[in-house]
Amino acid sequence: MTALIDATALEVAFPDTSKKRPFRPAPTTKILHGVDFHISAGESVGIVGESGSGKTTLGRALLRLIEPSAGHIAFEGQDITHAAERALRPLRARMTMIFQNPLAALNPRRTIAASVAAPLVARGDGSDVRQKVLRALDRSGLPKSFADRYPHQLSGGQRQRVGIARAIVTEPNFILADEIVSGLDVSTQAQILDLLRELRRDMGLALAFITHDLSVVRVLCERVVVMHQGRIVEEGDCAALFAAPRHPYTRRLLAAIPLPELDDTWLDAEAEEVA
Ligand SMILES: Nc1ncnc2c1ncn2[C@@H]1O[C@H](COP(=O)(O)OP(=O)(O)OP(=O)(O)O)[C@@H](O)[C@H]1O
Ligand SMILES: [Mg+2]
Repeated sequence: MTALIDATALEVAFPDTSKKRPFRPAPTTKILHGVDFHISAGESVGIVGESGSGKTTLGRALLRLIEPSAGHIAFEGQDITHAAERALRPLRARMTMIFQNPLAALNPRRTIAASVAAPLVARGDGSDVRQKVLRALDRSGLPKSFADRYPHQLSGGQRQRVGIARAIVTEPNFILADEIVSGLDVSTQAQILDLLRELRRDMGLALAFITHDLSVVRVLCERVVVMHQGRIVEEGDCAALFAAPRHPYTRRLLAAIPLPELDDTWLDAEAEEVA
């Protein structure tokens, strides 16, 4: 089976403005060091790691919101490593992103309908826009009457549903979700995760889910990759990896989960090792 997204030996470097010297090319700092990342159609993969480990940078590179400095990315077998925006435009409908902070991502002066319609309009898809928007809102668990509201009239959880409606309105087959539940209370988080699970099933979506929270990964993802300082240091099936983490960094991450959230399979593995 071909991977939906297949990234190999990916490197991303940012210009280092603090070291700028006149008449010389700006030096760069490498953030991703040879990352291999694959996701198949319909698959759900968690990307975890501490702050600054490069999760968002990897996600943005996969969507080609930034251009890698080395390596390759293919989307459905098509090489998009250095594709120009014009060539990427038709793909933008099929690989989308849910933003962490929906209030910052939504224009306060635009109705919900206008915000959700934006990706359709950007792609020049003018047919049945209202119909598609209402359907996306409905799929995201929002009443159709919300179409004519404004962002400030919605709760945090409802705004995040608008963010989801906007990400699915073009019927994508890949969605990147970057820390999308971290600002929400626990019961709203659970509802949003349920919604994502349902959408994945109904739309056959592949999902890359970036989070600090390993307990979220466990309920949502089949596979997990662990990042540390711009590298993937461990990856595997969720159940197997949580039962027997190999990398010391993964063990530290697991140890940071509040105990009541855990089943004790991995604790047993750890106890065995200590003994
Ligand atoms: N546009 C940029 N220019 C320069 N450096 C950047 C840029 N974006 C990210 N970085 C640096 O790259 C590193 C990785 O950042 P990234 O945002 O990918 O981490 P993260 O794992 O998503 O962290 P967090 O969990 O805090 O969101 C950090 O050191 C960050 O300062
Ligand atoms: Mg991030």
